[in-house]
Amino acid sequence: MFGFVSLVSAVILLLLSSCVDPLFSAPESALISELPGFNGIFPSNHYAGYVTIDESHGRNLYYYFVVSEGKPAEDPVVLWLNGGPGCSSFDGFVYEHGPFNFEKGVSGSMPKLHLNPYSWSKVSSVIYLDSPAGVGLSYSLNKSDYHTGDLKTAADTHLFLLEWFKQYPEFLGNPFFIAGESYAGVYVPTLAAEVAKGIEDGLKPILNFKGYMVGNGVTDTEYDGNALVPFAHGMALISDELFQEVYTACKGSYWNPTNLSCQDKLARVDWELDNLNIYDILEPCYHSPEIRSAISYQSRLPSTFRRLGETDRPLPVRARMFGRSWPLRAPVRDGRVPTWIELGSRVPCTDDEVATLWLNNEAVRKSIHAQPIEQIGKWEICTGNIEFYHDAGSMIPYHKNLTLKGYRSLIFSGDHDMCVPYTGSEAWTRSLGYQVTDEWRPWYLGDQIAGYTQGYDHNITFLTIKGAGHTVPEYKPAEALAFYSRFLNGASI
Ligand SMILES: *[C@@H]1O[C@H](CO)[C@@H](O)[C@H](O)[C@H]1NC(C)=O
Ligand SMILES: *[C@@H]1O[C@H](CO)[C@@H](O)[C@H](O)[C@H]1NC(C)=O
Ligand SMILES: *[C@@H]1O[C@H](CO)[C@@H](O)[C@H](O)[C@H]1NC(C)=O
Ligand SMILES: *[C@@H]1O[C@H](CO)[C@@H](O)[C@H](O)[C@H]1NC(C)=O
Repeated sequence: MFGFVSLVSAVILLLLSSCVDPLFSAPESALISELPGFNGIFPSNHYAGYVTIDESHGRNLYYYFVVSEGKPAEDPVVLWLNGGPGCSSFDGFVYEHGPFNFEKGVSGSMPKLHLNPYSWSKVSSVIYLDSPAGVGLSYSLNKSDYHTGDLKTAADTHLFLLEWFKQYPEFLGNPFFIAGESYAGVYVPTLAAEVAKGIEDGLKPILNFKGYMVGNGVTDTEYDGNALVPFAHGMALISDELFQEVYTACKGSYWNPTNLSCQDKLARVDWELDNLNIYDILEPCYHSPEIRSAISYQSRLPSTFRRLGETDRPLPVRARMFGRSWPLRAPVRDGRVPTWIELGSRVPCTDDEVATLWLNNEAVRKSIHAQPIEQIGKWEICTGNIEFYHDAGSMIPYHKNLTLKGYRSLIFSGDHDMCVPYTGSEAWTRSLGYQVTDEWRPWYLGDQIAGYTQGYDHNITFLTIKGAGHTVPEYKPAEALAFYSRFLNGASI
């Protein structure tokens, strides 16, 4: 039923649309009108809510959609996925490339939100999706859905996209990209394969899918599993002698050691790396506020060294804490992926305080159209509530198929990440056997080298970001926005 006012405004909008902007028919009920902690003017429209992908189960995926602050009618639409499995894409929204920088409140009060000058919404519209159901603010009324895996997650996310573009048809013609990080190294290519197949099968609506991006992405048990030892050697974390010994004992293959002396040497490597921050070897990794202050107090390091690896975000709010995620050299293998709790820790070195406070505030939940805590429980940055199976195998055949179909791809790596080290991503991209079309060279932001890149035939590019850790835009926001916009534009990076 249309009320008078909305009819009048619809007519006005229609009139306007013919000469100014295209008519945005996005669901009005999803529009966000205010956000606790933010007192400024929204630089573009934000929408958020649920898309039901299975009525009978009550399976609902939550999205937060930031319209481009540039030219929304033309700019690409990018789906962003954090990994885990089990981690919420609010990690990206709050800590990496979202429209706001969150300023920590004093003694546990609510954070203040400031506009992020390096938001990816400067050059694209971004959909932050919590996936699969059970993660972040997404949920199902039938808990059997929390037993899931790569293939079901990709199929569900594809359903989400089809339904989402039905609700936001004005964005259907924009170039569409899929991007993500870490375990999304599996989500992105598996979803891209579904999307590509949907397009081939003529599934409506037809998505204008152009390509994808993966950052420090889990890809292949063997390549990722063999990446750590050469990384540790190159980064001066293990000695030349130990490297020679472990190389000889393991014959250069570390991912599945059977030889006892190889296992022995690898244990020594692990021991030497044990207390590093796995997400950025330059950064300290802290237990708790007490230890944090004790360390900085006692540190004999010059202050410039103490600051190595710190983020250059204007408001760095994420302190780092002690602990680890994937045990070292435990690449993602076929079958059930252990939960964070089973790995014996919370998400390591990662403080999620600001996001946890904000997303578990009922006024915030209401304003971002999320279910209240009593309905779906507390928001956690990474959940142990889902039972997740890695059932899609290596991603290399996916990348082969997608690139041969003409989709563009960017495989980027923060070069100081030890969780999914760049050495593995560099090796598997090279292993595709495509001709090098842009030989290894530095890439720049302004007059500074921001990292290195090698481009291949079939539009697959490998790129490092110098000095960045696992979550690249968190450490290097300006560099990240630079390569992101160049890639989306189809420009050389
Ligand atoms: C949940 O889904 C499973 C699988 O479809 C079904 O067997 C079961 O009956 C459902 N449970 C409820 C409570 O609807
Ligand atoms: C393990 O590998 C080393 C080096 O190749 C070799 O000398 C040794 O005999 C092997 N040990 C076993 C138990 O196979
Ligand atoms: C790649 O494409 C081939 C041929 O279309 C298909 O048989 C195969 O299943 C695809 N593999 C993946 C992983 O998508
Ligand atoms: C690479 O991408 C460009 C721009 O989208 C396109 O014109 C070109 O055909 C692609 N090359 C290959 C080998 O797919």
